[in-house]
Amino acid sequence: MSEALADAGPRPVATNNLEAFWMPFTANRQFKSAPRLLASAKDMHYVATDGRRILDATSGLWCVNAGHCRPKIVEAIQAQVAELDFAPTFQFGHPKAFELASRLAAMAPSGLDHVFFSNSGSEAVDTALKIALAYHRARGEGQRFRLIGRERGYHGVGFGGISVGGMVANRKTFGPGLPAVDHLRHTHDPERNAFSRGLPEHGAELADDLERMVALHGAETIAAVIVEPLAGSTGVLVPPKGYLERLRAICDRHGLLLIFDEVITGFGRLGAPFASERFGVTPDIMTTAKGVTNGTIPMGATLVSSAIYDAFMQGPENMIDLFHGYTYTGHPIACAAALATLDTYQAEGLLTRALQLETRWADAVHSLKGLPHVIDIRTLGLVAGIELEPIEGQPTARAFSAFRKAFDAGMMIRTTGDIIALSPPLIVSEAQIDEIVGTLADVIKSVA
Ligand SMILES: Cc1ncc(COP(=O)(O)O)c(C=O)c1O
Repeated sequence: MSEALADAGPRPVATNNLEAFWMPFTANRQFKSAPRLLASAKDMHYVATDGRRILDATSGLWCVNAGHCRPKIVEAIQAQVAELDFAPTFQFGHPKAFELASRLAAMAPSGLDHVFFSNSGSEAVDTALKIALAYHRARGEGQRFRLIGRERGYHGVGFGGISVGGMVANRKTFGPGLPAVDHLRHTHDPERNAFSRGLPEHGAELADDLERMVALHGAETIAAVIVEPLAGSTGVLVPPKGYLERLRAICDRHGLLLIFDEVITGFGRLGAPFASERFGVTPDIMTTAKGVTNGTIPMGATLVSSAIYDAFMQGPENMIDLFHGYTYTGHPIACAAALATLDTYQAEGLLTRALQLETRWADAVHSLKGLPHVIDIRTLGLVAGIELEPIEGQPTARAFSAFRKAFDAGMMIRTTGDIIALSPPLIVSEAQIDEIVGTLADVIKSVA
């Protein structure tokens, strides 16, 4: 330390200066002029810095599936950091990474037997895309370089994810992205499907877009198709009946890998451990993150079939089989958090609880039909999308106003465009469901 610094003595910490942190996906100047600051959390609630309790109707950011600050998870993290704070997983290992991979493979849809760890959903997606490309090459089909995503898809913020993703604001300012990417049409069809409970009736035929792409590009140039089984971040788009089955069949017909991005739908959100189990359609690769550690420590996990893994195990045994990985792949603290999270989910039956609450949840949320400017409501598991009519000339303004008013009224919701998305922790009580919907009804009336 320089003498000048040593002489300066203790310096005040600038806790009231919001300037330096460039906040993600946030209107920084607007936020900093009227900040929403969270100080602590327990179970279904946050506590704001002004002491108000805030009911969490979005599991933080779709990740705190077991509720906040759950004791087993907190204790596991505390114990792990004191015992093994970091261990490389390049040419070394530590037991919890293997244990966690085995447990994830055991609970995943059958056939998804191998797990590659990363630190976020974005990284899990980029890992999946890279594995898909490298898999075909390992089998002598390196000309399969094309990736197919879907309009309105959200696959994180890496260059791979935004390239196959289909949310325009996330793509348009960042250049051309990956070459050789195409997009299926999205499945949102309010004219035919408005106010559907569960899977909408219409739209399975939209999967046939994939056949058109095969006809246009040639199947032999396509590596993989990536979709969210239920699209969350774009405003809760539930797959039409038969749609995912049709995508699976077309992939099988043409040798394309099917990737399900289950970063939001994984870990019980739709009433089964994974959406693929709920829908009875198994992908070749599945991405997860968020709920894997209950949001406590960053972690992503990409699960692949044995056929894919085995294709990489054909070369000389002393050769690295996949030139990919992160310093924090399989981080010990994330692994400890994830193991304790899985214990908590299992001990409390949380991975199927959304199925038990589904009717109750749908009844409550669909009671908002008829309120001013509510033009669609969609529900499945413990997810809901409530679409509001935009204010003329001011898209997003109505929903954002609802978001702010909800916070003032003591509730955290999430909005995308003019859609309100709800996804409470899976421990939500029936009384809290009523509270969420009651507060939201008042909020929606107030933004009429
Ligand atoms: C389906 C999906 N994929 C990927 C991501 C990106 O995850 P992360 O923000 O952890 O990078 C998200 C985040 O919401 C997501 O919903």
